[in-house]
Amino acid sequence: MDLRASIRAWIRHADDAYGGDLPVQAAGAIAVPARTEPQERASEPRGQAAPSVAADPGAAARVAPEPLTVTPPEVDLDRLDLPEDLDSLHRLVTTCRKCKLCDHRTQTVFGEGAGDARVLFVGEAPGAREDELGRPFVGPAGRLLTRIIENAMGLRRDEVYIANVNKCRPPGNRNPEPDEVAACLPFLHAQIRAVEPEVIVVLGRVAAHSLLGTHQSMGQLRGRELDLHGIPVVPTWHPAYLLRNEAAKADTWEDIKRVNRLLGRPEVPPRARPRS
Ligand code: URA
Repeated sequence: MDLRASIRAWIRHADDAYGGDLPVQAAGAIAVPARTEPQERASEPRGQAAPSVAADPGAAARVAPEPLTVTPPEVDLDRLDLPEDLDSLHRLVTTCRKCKLCDHRTQTVFGEGAGDARVLFVGEAPGAREDELGRPFVGPAGRLLTRIIENAMGLRRDEVYIANVNKCRPPGNRNPEPDEVAACLPFLHAQIRAVEPEVIVVLGRVAAHSLLGTHQSMGQLRGRELDLHGIPVVPTWHPAYLLRNEAAKADTWEDIKRVNRLLGRPEVPPRARPRS
């Protein structure tokens, strides 16, 4: 790898791990670090901190992966003291006051989709639009997620299950705090228990850290064989990140091909094949 490529790969890693403070210009020159504008976060808040990388998307992948052990926190699904069916669980979540996020929400955002979905997507927490409508991923990032499901998987949105780690919108679209994640996470485990998906797709760093109990960067987590409750977990970029970092869509495409393989489906759905 030449020097420029390795610098780009390192910056990509830093951007991923530390939240987009190290912009790279398209030509690979290092620009002056600039913080994400609150405005930018407010419009599409959830997911990876706003990036400014236009670097080669394959560069990070070409860095030799270092050994990585992710040991998700032990959760015994048999001992989870929560309803086993989605409807009862939904009712419980609707009135939940286990953390301070309940003071700011318009309503809870439980999750939606097929109760027997083969794949379950996990985001971070509702944004403004989700808080308003009570449904997950209905803003711009949600529209991209829907396109990924339809075009890269050949499925309808209502054939998968979509949930978040946190069911209430954090004020000002900040990241959920550890006590808020801890309070809400059992609901997600109960959703996983109810749906029994064959694959869990984790969207973005915050969701990956919360669910997998790790602090590894997305660059380190992507492409690894991870599992939760014996279910394969595929971490990929949050769609909000993809909206701001077109180049990373190539990575997500690879991650979704892996999901398709795990499901025993065509790696590339017929509809998504490039026209000859
Ligand atoms: N981002 C998330 O992580 N979840 C949503 O529901 C919407 C945006």
